[in-house]
Amino acid sequence: MKLKLIVFCCLFILASGKVQKQAATNSWRDLIFGGKWLSPPRLRESKFLPIFALVPIGPGSCSAPSGEQGNCIPSKDCVLRNGIPAGPCGGGYGVCCIFLQTCGGVLRENSTYFVNPNHPDVYDGTGSCQVTIQKLHPDICQLRLDLDMFSIAPPEAANHLCNQDQLLISGGSPTPTICGSSTGDHMYIDAGLGQSNPIVLSVITSGTFPRLWRIRVTQIHCGSISRADQGCLQYYTAISGRVRSFNYNTMGGRQLSNQDYSICIRNERNFCGIQYNACPDLENNRSRAFTLSGNSNNPVPTMVGGGGATLPTTSGCVSDWLLIGCIRSADRIPPLPGCEDRVCGGTFSAEAGMLARTVQCK
Ligand SMILES: *[C@@H]1O[C@H](CO)[C@@H](O)[C@H](O)[C@H]1NC(C)=O
Ligand SMILES: *[C@@H]1O[C@H](CO)[C@@H](O)[C@H](O)[C@H]1NC(C)=O
Repeated sequence: MKLKLIVFCCLFILASGKVQKQAATNSWRDLIFGGKWLSPPRLRESKFLPIFALVPIGPGSCSAPSGEQGNCIPSKDCVLRNGIPAGPCGGGYGVCCIFLQTCGGVLRENSTYFVNPNHPDVYDGTGSCQVTIQKLHPDICQLRLDLDMFSIAPPEAANHLCNQDQLLISGGSPTPTICGSSTGDHMYIDAGLGQSNPIVLSVITSGTFPRLWRIRVTQIHCGSISRADQGCLQYYTAISGRVRSFNYNTMGGRQLSNQDYSICIRNERNFCGIQYNACPDLENNRSRAFTLSGNSNNPVPTMVGGGGATLPTTSGCVSDWLLIGCIRSADRIPPLPGCEDRVCGGTFSAEAGMLARTVQCK
């Protein structure tokens, strides 16, 4: 799949609805920026801490003054484990030990950062900078990557291909190749069961660009409540939030070509639906918060559905789309009988036209 136009996508999500029986679970995933309903969180045995228990002094997380998350451990352990002591923690009993690795490194500790050479300064070099992630334990099923800082060369202007710089992730579940700026975004990678193939993160660079990255890698136990559902590249668990595409930026961002992944939003207890709106765009006169094959300085309508063999390719979403189950306008009473799956164009709505609307799926 190829993208030809400047596109971005950012949606504000809000859980909605009254307490109801859980509707049948729909699941879907598709090109670009799929969405997927999830079944409610797996039931887990409740656990409580008896009030008499002595709480052992175990590793806890702490923050370094430079912003990294560290592990609060005894100072000599930090040195032995090749960590960087970053100030006292735990009431002075330990140090906030941060783990950083760059090109050629092996990530052996939970919450290790993969940073660019010269970090925190920029890196202008070319080649392949890669790190290998070693599971802490065979019972690690997933990794979460937090792109705390991420700015590498953007995609080229014609087809939006990442042909100068790329972040490549190999050895785990398939992940899209990204480039440009994606600070604040995250990804979940399935790491397989047991001692599977190591996962390798590579930043491939060519040409000159002031690159900066700091990616935190958290290891997730198979039974952890923080584990994302299978097949979800991104996973959100709050009752409201924002989802956006990689390299999203309403001023100069370009939607990346060849993306196909799912963003999952957990259906929280007592909520039975989700509403979606395009995010506000405070920078442009015409909102560019949602534009999929629809970028232009002139207004571009919403397109919905998959077109079809008999329809011209301009009346549906045939090359790029956002897919969100069965969506309808949230403000129509009674609701329209039909619903749509695919949305594209330059206006976010579940109905073809020029009017941006809140959409809902339930
Ligand atoms: C890694 O650290 C995170 C918190 O920073 C924690 O939730 C997770 O359980 C840790 N993983 C392992 C395998 O200890
Ligand atoms: C928005 O419109 C105003 C007035 O027409 C114009 O001066 C300004 O440059 C426009 N801004 C952008 C970002 O297009």
